[in-house]
Order: sequence, then C-alpha cells, then structure tokens
Amino acid sequence: MKKIDRETVQKILDTADIVDVVSDFVSLKRRGANYIGLCPFHNERTPSFSVSKSKGICKCFSCGKGGAPVNFLMELEQMSYQEALRWLANKYHIEIKEREESEEERRQASEREQMFAVNEFALNHFRHNLTDTDTGRAIGLSYFRQRGISDAMIDRFKLGYAIELNDDLHNAAANAGYKDEFLERTGLIVRKENGQTYDRFRGRVIYPVHTLSGKVVAFGGRTLRTDKNIAKYVNSPESAIYRKSFELYGLYQARQAITRADKCILVEGYMDVISMHQAGIENVVASSGTSLTDGQIRMIHRFTQNVTVIYDSDAAGIKASLRGIDLLLAEGLNIKVLLLPEGEDPDSFSQKNESGTVERYIRENESDFIRFKTRILLDEAGNDPMRRSKVISDILRSISVIPDAVTRGIYADECARLMGVKADMLHAQLKKLVTDITYRQSLKQQADNAKSSIADLTPQQIQDASDDAADRNAAVARRLRPYEEALLRLVLKYGNYAFTTFADEDNPQEPTPLRVTDYVSGDLDADEVSFSDPALAHVFQCAVDIIRDEWPEERKRFICDLEKRMETELADGRRALAEQGLSVADITRGEIELNERVQREFDESIAGFDADFVARRATSSPDDLLRRISTDMIAEPHQLSKIYTRSGHVASERERLADLLPRTLHELKSVHLSVELDSILAEIKIAQERGDTDEVMNLINRMMERKALQNEFAKYLGERNLNPDKLPGWE
Ligand code: CTP
Ligand code: MN
Repeated sequence: MKKIDRETVQKILDTADIVDVVSDFVSLKRRGANYIGLCPFHNERTPSFSVSKSKGICKCFSCGKGGAPVNFLMELEQMSYQEALRWLANKYHIEIKEREESEEERRQASEREQMFAVNEFALNHFRHNLTDTDTGRAIGLSYFRQRGISDAMIDRFKLGYAIELNDDLHNAAANAGYKDEFLERTGLIVRKENGQTYDRFRGRVIYPVHTLSGKVVAFGGRTLRTDKNIAKYVNSPESAIYRKSFELYGLYQARQAITRADKCILVEGYMDVISMHQAGIENVVASSGTSLTDGQIRMIHRFTQNVTVIYDSDAAGIKASLRGIDLLLAEGLNIKVLLLPEGEDPDSFSQKNESGTVERYIRENESDFIRFKTRILLDEAGNDPMRRSKVISDILRSISVIPDAVTRGIYADECARLMGVKADMLHAQLKKLVTDITYRQSLKQQADNAKSSIADLTPQQIQDASDDAADRNAAVARRLRPYEEALLRLVLKYGNYAFTTFADEDNPQEPTPLRVTDYVSGDLDADEVSFSDPALAHVFQCAVDIIRDEWPEERKRFICDLEKRMETELADGRRALAEQGLSVADITRGEIELNERVQREFDESIAGFDADFVARRATSSPDDLLRRISTDMIAEPHQLSKIYTRSGHVASERERLADLLPRTLHELKSVHLSVELDSILAEIKIAQERGDTDEVMNLINRMMERKALQNEFAKYLGERNLNPDKLPGWE
C-alpha cells in the first residue's frame, strides 16, 4: 500500500492548528486562554466544548470527546487516520509525498517492525491463496461460502487460507527477501530440533488478529477436517509483538461501532464475531475461547462502560464463566448477560435470522448480570436452605467487588428481593465483605501456595486458585493505578524536557541534561518496576519509542530551522540598532542585550520542543489507545497549589519537575513495597500456623529489610507515617 511519507505526516501534524480545524465545524468564542463552543459530538444548549491552542487539543467536558486535530476529524467525520491526514493536507495545501518501502528501509526497520512486516506479508500471502489460487478457492473459499460468509466479510476480516504444504509460506517469504529469523520469531515457521523448519499453518483457513491500530500481530488457523485427533485451532505463539492477554479479536473492526453504540458485545469465537458483523451488529469482540484477562477488560473499558456477554445455552459453560464476570464487575463495568435459544451460538443465530431480529432479540433478552447469576444459582439450589444461603454469599461476593458503593447498594436490595431475605442483613454482610476483601485475598494466596502439590488439588480447586490469583492481581493493579497514571501524565506532558542536569564524571565541566522520559524509564528499570496496568504500560512504551525513534532526528531539524530564524532576527535587530544613530557604547550594549534575548528565546523554544514532543506525537498517533489515553491525560485540568520560589514567583509544574518526578516515582515504589509487605505478613501467619519457625524467622528478616526501605522512602517523602494509598499530594 502507498503510505503518506513520514516527513509529510510530520509536516501535516505540525501545521494543523486545532482552533483553525475545529472552527470549520463549530463556531468558537474566545474565553481566556481557550476557545469554547457547542459540542459537535452531542446535543447541548450551553457550551462545554473547549479548545486549547497551546495544548493543541480540544475536549468536551461533558461527553469527553475530542483530541488533537487528527482525532477530532476521525471521531467527528468517522475518518480513518490516513483519511484525516489527507483532509488536513488538503486544507493546508501541503503536497503529499507517498512512498513504497525500499529494500534499505526494510533492512533498517526495528525488530518489531520487521516482525510486523513479516506478518503483513503472511497476511497478504494467505489472502492471495484464498482468492487467487485453485486449491485455495476449492478448499478455503468454498469452506467460508458453505458457512455463509460473504466476500465483504472476508475482505473486512482479511480472512485467508494456508496451503497444505510444509514450506509454502516459507518459500514465498524467502523469495520476497524476508529473513528466517523474523518468520521464526513471529511463529510463522517452526524449527525442529534437527534444524529443519516447517510452516506453522498448513491446510487451514486463517483468521488474522489485529491490534487496535490495525497491525497484524497473530493468526488463528482452523482445520477443515473433522478428525478429532487434529487440533481444531492452531494459533500464533506469544512474541515480542503479540501478547495474547492484551488483544481482543475483532476490536479493530468493532471499535467505532462500540463507541457509537456505547456498548460492547462479548462472544467466544472468531466465527461468532464475523457472522454478527455480517448481520449488521458490529460492536462485537471475542475473547478467543479463553477466560477474559485484566488487560482485555481495560481495553474494552477505554471504549465503553457497557458490556453484554453472550452465552450459548449450554449450562456447564455458563457456570464456568460466572467467576470471570466478577473481573468485569470489579473494573466498574455494567454487565449484561444474554442467553441464546437452545442449541444456538452467536454464529448460527445470526446466520439464521434477519439482522433486525437479532438486534431485537438482544435488546429484549439481555439481562442484568447479578439478577442472572442469582436466578441461575437459585434454580440450582432449589428449596434446600443450606444451598440457598450459599447462593447468597456467592452473590454477595460478586457484588462486593463492584467499585461503586451506590451500585453495590442497589444490587444488594435487588438480591434481597429475589432471595426473599431482609435487605438490612445483606447490607451488613456486604459491608463486612467489602472491608476485608484485600486481606482475604492475600491470605488465600498464601494458603494456596502452602498446599503441598498441585496434583493434590481437584480441578475445581485449581480453577478457584487461578480465579483468586486473577482477582488479586486486579486488586493490586487497582491500588497501583493512580500512581502509575500520575507518573505517566508527567511523562506525556513533559516528554523529554531537560528538567535538571547532572555532573558527568568524565566531563565535570559540562553537566549532562537529565530528561524526563529517559530519567523515568532508567529509574523504573533500575528498581525493576514496571507499569502493571497493560494499557498504561503500552502508552509508556510508546512514549519511550517516540523519543527513541523520532525525537533525535526531528530535534535536529527543528534546531536547524530555529537557527535560521534566530539568525534573521539577530540581523534585523542589529540593523535596527545601527539605524538609530546611537553611540558606539550604546550600540555595543544594545547588541549584547539583543544577543542575550535571542539566546534566551532560542533556549526556551528548544526546551518547549523537548517538553511538548511526546504530547504532540501521542495525541496525533495512529494508535487509538495511545491517542485516547494521552489526550485524556493532557486535557485533564490540573490545578497546582501556589508554590513560591525563593525569588518570589510562582513555580510552574514544569519548574518543579526536579522535585515532582522523584517524588512520584517514590510514591509508586512505596505502594509496590506495601503490597509486598502485605503478602509477607500473610505468609508469616501461615508459617506460624504450620509451626515452621525457620521460615517465620526468614520472613521476618525479609520484612525488616523491606520496612527499612519503606522508612527511607517515608523520610524522602517527608512524612513519618506513609500512607501509600493516598493520591500523590501535589494539589
Ligand atoms: N480456540 C482456540 N483453540 C482451540 C479451540 C478454540 O484457540 N483448540 C478459540 C478460538 O479463538 C475459537 C474460540 O476459541 O474461535 C471458540 O472455540 P470454538 O467454539 O470451538 O470454535 P468456533 O470459533 O465456534 O469455531 P467454529 O464455529 O468454526 O467451529
Ligand atoms: Mn462456532
């Protein structure tokens, strides 16, 4: 495909002015430093849509939509990233240069890029097989036809076919110049112990898995045989570009529909997603057979709060997945559940019915999760009072993970009504559950660890243990998230601003600038701390990549242009001085002042460039997740308390980074530490119960070490009693 070349993209992004672009669609009024108008994304009478020229973004403070020019256009006009760029180029009369990748560029591309390139090649190869080869058409295409899949869907989901040969893809890729190394790393070819290789996907139809930004990270291959001894699906292994627990099948194709409907439908399989799309229901994603992970849930949450989970009517499957739903509740999502008629799955159901019928069925039959779970468990328990009381505690457990207290209360009332018990009693029990949930989780983990061997456990116990582990991770992530967000906000907002300098041993005369993103990533690496929230981790990695891949070169260009501008300014200034008929001494003094002023402007422009770089690129990135999160974080109005410096002026956040950054890092690390301390404590308790004094001593020693470290942090942060679960206190 022809792409807009990188320099053109940068030119477009640098030229596009947010006030100017938004004004094409919304009439704006100046208010203070910003502009405001009526939000184009929802109906309103009083303006809540605000445009910040300096931040380069717009945002509706009522519905939350907005962003940099590219994002604004994409959302408002439902354009793709490339379309938005072309629209802007047209508006500003910027000539678009397009290009194909050259051999040399391909060689130089980073490893990840090479892996993406290999996958892109494989994708096209599989697609070509499906539609342009006799075997592919006879086997693959006729399979999709027989399952009722239209050409439009084959195109939309980029379905393909892998020829039943050991080296079909390998040969084609080698001929096109792709290296074995990257074919192996993406898992497209597999190397046996004796060094021989074979294609992973052979004689299978292919479902590519896209990231949010549309890159292909993996493939699923379905066999066309009915032989039970053959694996039904072969999937790409995890790799540097594919982390299974972060991807949701179909999200790329569904994301706009999810935003539009403000709702996401969750199904199980590839074919379920595709058939529903074909039936006109596009806000559908699949967890691909496994239980949902934290990362996937947060992905959904970035787009909507509302999730409907569709189950086929097989009862065993439903019970097994009830626990997984608690994770969704814990994330604060509104969950509905839908049962399909006997014997149907989303694929068969949407193939059989008109799209209107499917939509209506969903609307009329989806039910609230807590109610659904209560009904299922109650049906099972019948009138047995013991079992009924077990149901109550089970439901309460689900309710207790919901973050919002008001919602918890409503559900408890509802549950009381359904169960025919007193609401007061449920509220009391619920309160108890909510308060000791964290403690219980850490104890349980240790208890599970202490069990002698996994072989002694029943499958149910193993399932419970892993569910608990998932709960616990979610709880820890929730505790860490505010701190991770605070840190990430500074990284996005101040990019690679040189907030301080340090003396270099080799060259003590020339202090080295210490830059925000460099400093943060170095510091996290040194303590082996990383972002626990997958979405935030992704954004942070993007910021690091932007600095590494784009910043140095663009900075050079920026400085080069700036120097030219400053030269002109100097020359103009000198000429003006000369024309004033001043004394030689006055001219000299004037020139010194001029030089100083121009130098100051020069330094300030570069500092501004360094600080804004990540923010500008991130809010205009083709990566949806990056764009959303960075826009939110940068748009966030952040009130600073007035901090006066010695010279008496109010210090801006940027001026305080030398204090804020290490403080924010320390705060994050001390939460990590207190999480660790909690779990050591729980372990001590268990070791005591076992009477294992040696272990108790070991653990106590470890605890003392950690405590000492925590005291150091506390001293640093200037508080005796560190309360790490409090938000960073810079307000
Ligand atoms: N899956 C998998 N590996 C398997 C079985 C299933 O990865 N061995 C995943 C696939 O993502 C699949 C989903 O689990 O789409 C649901 O599995 P299943 O219901 O068995 O497959 P369907 O998608 O319904 O496939 P089909 O309708 O073609 O039989
Ligand atoms: Mn199926």
